[in-house]
Amino acid sequence: MLSLVIAESALELVPKELQNHNSVLASSRKFNKKPSEILLDVSWHFAAMKKMKNEIKRGRPDLIHFCLLEACSIPLYFENRLQVFIHTIDDRVIFFDKSVRLPKSYHRFAGLIEKLYSEGVIEDNGKKLLEIKKMNFGDLIKNISPNKIIGLSSKGDSSSYQQVSEEIDDDTCMIVGGFAKGQFSDSIKKYFDKTRSVDKNPLEAHIIISRVLYEYEKRIIM
Ligand SMILES: C[S@@+](CC[C@H](N)C(=O)[O-])C[C@H]1O[C@@H](n2cnc3c(N)ncnc32)[C@H](O)[C@@H]1O
Repeated sequence: MLSLVIAESALELVPKELQNHNSVLASSRKFNKKPSEILLDVSWHFAAMKKMKNEIKRGRPDLIHFCLLEACSIPLYFENRLQVFIHTIDDRVIFFDKSVRLPKSYHRFAGLIEKLYSEGVIEDNGKKLLEIKKMNFGDLIKNISPNKIIGLSSKGDSSSYQQVSEEIDDDTCMIVGGFAKGQFSDSIKKYFDKTRSVDKNPLEAHIIISRVLYEYEKRIIM
């Protein structure tokens, strides 16, 4: 099965050092949750994030919502030919059961992920739909154990959606960055067997995901 890892995703709870910042306290009052229970989000916490390490790659949970909706609502996913993992910037991994149906509303998605952070697992009738574990990228790759890892990056070797789809087989792992700005860290890039660029411009991660997966889907199940 093809594996898609959305790596270094800009998805995390507000870190401890920012929890007393005014912008965090204001959003915690608005959502009626403790500062430690809410997702870091640049649209609310811009002022608090200004001095954060690696700030440009953090606080965009909305991007991950888009990526997941693209990847988990397509025939490839429903027909068990694709598994999806979120690796986060703070080294956690989210695992998804095949039967999971993610909320289309961002507000409900954020609530679900906050609940996942606090409980570690989301279950339905004893079945784990979502699970989050402390795990770095290297351990996730060991866990998936693919025969080929293709990194997608605007700095990769020039290719096309179709050409990348032709390089994919059943045991491939495709890596897309879950961040808005910046590039993959060296600790992630070192795992790539190939790095491919599919457009002359940097594009949003969900566009890259939907187009490569569509080309692959046409090749194997249409
Ligand atoms: C919004 S981009 C990150 C921004 C970054 N400045 C860049 O140039 O890739 C998010 C992810 O989408 C994928 N991506 C964006 N543009 C791409 C391109 N032209 N070719 C291949 N992958 C791309 C990469 O995986 C990237 O990490």
